[in-house]
Formats: sequence, structure tokens, C-alpha cells
Amino acid sequence: KLKVPTPADIVARKGGAPLVCLTAYTTPVAQLTDPHCDIVLVGDSVGMVLHGLPSTLGVTMEMMVLHGQAVARGLSRAMMVVDMPFGSYEESPGQAFRNAAALVAETGCAAVKLEGGVEMAPTIRHLTRRSIPVMAHIGLTPQAINTLGGYRVQGRGEDAARVLADADAVADAGAFSVVLEKVPERLADEITARLAIPTIGIGASAGCDGQILVVDDMLGLFTAFKPKFAKRYAMLGADADKAIAAYAEEVRARSFPAPEHLFGDALPEAKE
Ligand code: KIV
Ligand code: NA
Repeated sequence: KLKVPTPADIVARKGGAPLVCLTAYTTPVAQLTDPHCDIVLVGDSVGMVLHGLPSTLGVTMEMMVLHGQAVARGLSRAMMVVDMPFGSYEESPGQAFRNAAALVAETGCAAVKLEGGVEMAPTIRHLTRRSIPVMAHIGLTPQAINTLGGYRVQGRGEDAARVLADADAVADAGAFSVVLEKVPERLADEITARLAIPTIGIGASAGCDGQILVVDDMLGLFTAFKPKFAKRYAMLGADADKAIAAYAEEVRARSFPAPEHLFGDALPEAKE
């Protein structure tokens, strides 16, 4: 059995073989990702992907704990990271520690992820100095949808300096890795070159130290909308539609259930 990588192991992978990361929210999907991934993220995308929320803003600590516990039961070799939901860390470093500690204690996650750059650096420092490893998340930060005004590319043109400052700040504050979401490829490469910690891209660059996708996006299970960066490696939603349509047809035709699905009246002498 391979050893579960620690945050220090992840830092040591900087510049090496790309880190493979996916989200998961349930035990069976965690079991599918575990043999192939270095890191499995219980993302707050769970709110949109599994709970039908219009954004990640309505996600609660309770949801992150329940999904974190479910994912933990499905992992044996990948490292688990749990997202801090909107409102659970922005108020103060103390609030962030209290909620991050609850996620660690209740789910067993090795680290937490939170969104934000320069403004969150003191919080990242506060957590890492108190034994909670932090994965940072900069560029497009979906919890900021109401102030960003849309899910647009971040860091184009003059705005690159802002994202660079965020990258420097989270690395300096002690984050063990940083997600770069929806930033220009050249900027992602520049950040990857200048930071000593791994960058994990999503809509960023193949040159990042790792990649992450929302598992329901790449499996074709979540189809409400499709970001440009969300490559579909399967069409499980379409397969499920076919399966459910076939079941409905057989029920209406009384061809399901068939004899092999049914039970006789005789007392069970032999095992049935
Ligand atoms: O919530 C999420 O799934 C994420 C990843 C896409 C990085 O934050
Ligand atoms: Na997230």
C-alpha cells in the first residue's frame, strides 16, 4: 500500500511529475478517484454539482463536514483537502482557525483550501503556523462572484500584477500549494516559475505543477453548463439518461421484472 502524500510531499513534487487532482463528494466517486489521484478535493462546488444551488455561496460547514466524511471513507492513498465554505473564514484568522480545525477534526482531512490572495495572507499564515496546512486558491475565486460580477478570466493585461501579488502573498504566508483558476496561460506559467510551491491549474496552463477538474464535469454528469476548461472524458449523464429511459419503457411494457428477478413460492431447501 502506497503512503498517503503529506503537504510536505506535495511541495517536494514542485517541478516534477504533474500532480493529478480531482474533486469528489461521495464515497463511491472517491473510491474511483483514489487509485489515480495525488489529491482529492472536497470542493464547495458540491453545492452546485450535487445540491442544485445557483452558486457556491450557500454552501455550509455542515455540508462540507458530511461530504468530507463520505469522501474520507473512500480514500486510502490520495491526500484529502476540504474547501472552507463562504463565510467560514473571511471574518478573522480566529474564525478561520475555529472552522478549519472543525473540518480537520470531523473529516480527517490533511489540509483545507480557501479562496483569496493578499487579503487572506494573514489568515493563511495564522492557520499554517497552528498546524493546519492550507491550499490557496487565486485567479477566479467563485465565492467572490458578487463582487467580480461574473466568472471571467482574471489577470489579463494590467490586472496580471494583482494576480502575481496574490500568488506571492499566499506562498509567502505558507500555503503548500495554490490553485490558479481561469487565468491567462502565460501568467500561469510565470507564477509557476516564480513560486517555490506547486501551482494547480484549472483553466490555467499545462505548464502548472498539477491540474484539477470538477469530477462531475469531466465525467459528463454535470451538464447545467460547461466551462471552456472542463474537458469531458465521458458522457455518463447521457448514458444514465439512456438507462433510465430503457427502464421506463420496460416497466410500461411489463417486460421488467423478468423471471430471473423474481422469487418462487416453494420453501427454500437449497439456497436461493
Ligand atoms: O470547489 C471546487 O471544486 C474547486 C476546484 C474547482 C478548484 O475549488
Ligand atoms: Na471551491
